[in-house]
Amino acid sequence: MTSNTLDTVWPKGSTRLVAVIGDPVSHSLSPILHNCAFKTLGLDWVYTAFTVRQAQLDQALEGVRALGIEGLSVTMPHKVQVVKKLDSCSKNAQILGAVNTISRIGNNLIGHNTDGDGFVDAIKAELGFDVASKRCLIIGAGGAARSIALSLAQNQAEKVMIVARDASRAIEVANLAGKVGQVVSPEAAKDAELIINATPLGMKGFDTSFPINPSFISPGQIFVDLIYFPLQTPMAKELQKKQVKVLNGVAMLLYQAARAFNIWTGQEAPIGQMSKALMNEIANFF
Ligand SMILES: NC(=O)c1ccc[n+]([C@@H]2O[C@H](COP(=O)([O-])OP(=O)(O)OC[C@H]3O[C@@H](n4cnc5c(N)ncnc54)[C@H](OP(=O)(O)O)[C@@H]3O)[C@@H](O)[C@H]2O)c1
Repeated sequence: MTSNTLDTVWPKGSTRLVAVIGDPVSHSLSPILHNCAFKTLGLDWVYTAFTVRQAQLDQALEGVRALGIEGLSVTMPHKVQVVKKLDSCSKNAQILGAVNTISRIGNNLIGHNTDGDGFVDAIKAELGFDVASKRCLIIGAGGAARSIALSLAQNQAEKVMIVARDASRAIEVANLAGKVGQVVSPEAAKDAELIINATPLGMKGFDTSFPINPSFISPGQIFVDLIYFPLQTPMAKELQKKQVKVLNGVAMLLYQAARAFNIWTGQEAPIGQMSKALMNEIANFF
């Protein structure tokens, strides 16, 4: 089927459905990404967004089974709570205790977490940076930090260093990275090849202070900010002035979605087209 045949009458009776659930979800960029991918590949699938309140998560999952919805993306506040409600989970979703993607096989709902591996894919594709044998430092100890720490360790990073204001959460994240994980002070960034901001510092509407002192980062190191609103945070701007290589959060958003797309459809996601659609949409916000 080509995208032209879809354009005539679509969605139709045979169309398969995927959706994101969360609260709120109206701001989600996932429908843009996945509908672009379905159209590009001429797949008779459609992706939408459902606001699901915490108290209605069980009913929503029953609805997925009853309606034969093919899969879900899961966002806040359900990522952790949903784990115990599924029939099974991938190894990483189990370790992390968090799910961002659900696939349905018959009546069974299976949880996955594509965030960390999406991050690793993103820096490989966008920067040619392979984390194997590299010293990496993550600022923050929330959900994104956890999934990235696990994937960095699984991809043979030499060190996974964690800087966070909450010491006990920092230890938990370091433990996810096993023997290569350690909690460090911000100054340890001087020794890292890759530094990742996994805090909301610099996000539109949040505190714009720097997540760590920029003097700890020099040219030759890589700084990845997971934030994509705005496309360039104050920290990223400051480091770019010093010729530090910087990547924003668009790439991770794209590559975690590409992994989810592959789980649902079995096909490789058309990253180039998805990226263009995403950038158009983001440009409309500014
Ligand atoms: N590009 C992508 O695809 C992608 C995917 C996921 C997340 N993200 C972005 O990554 C960031 C983190 O997301 P998340 O889901 O991990 O959030 P989260 O679970 O809420 O964790 C946020 C982390 O940042 C820390 N933090 C918050 N405010 C801080 C401050 N003022 N100073 C120092 N540390 C602070 C928190 O510390 P406490 O625990 O002490 O509060 C926590 O460790 C967000 O900006 C999010 O938009 C991007």
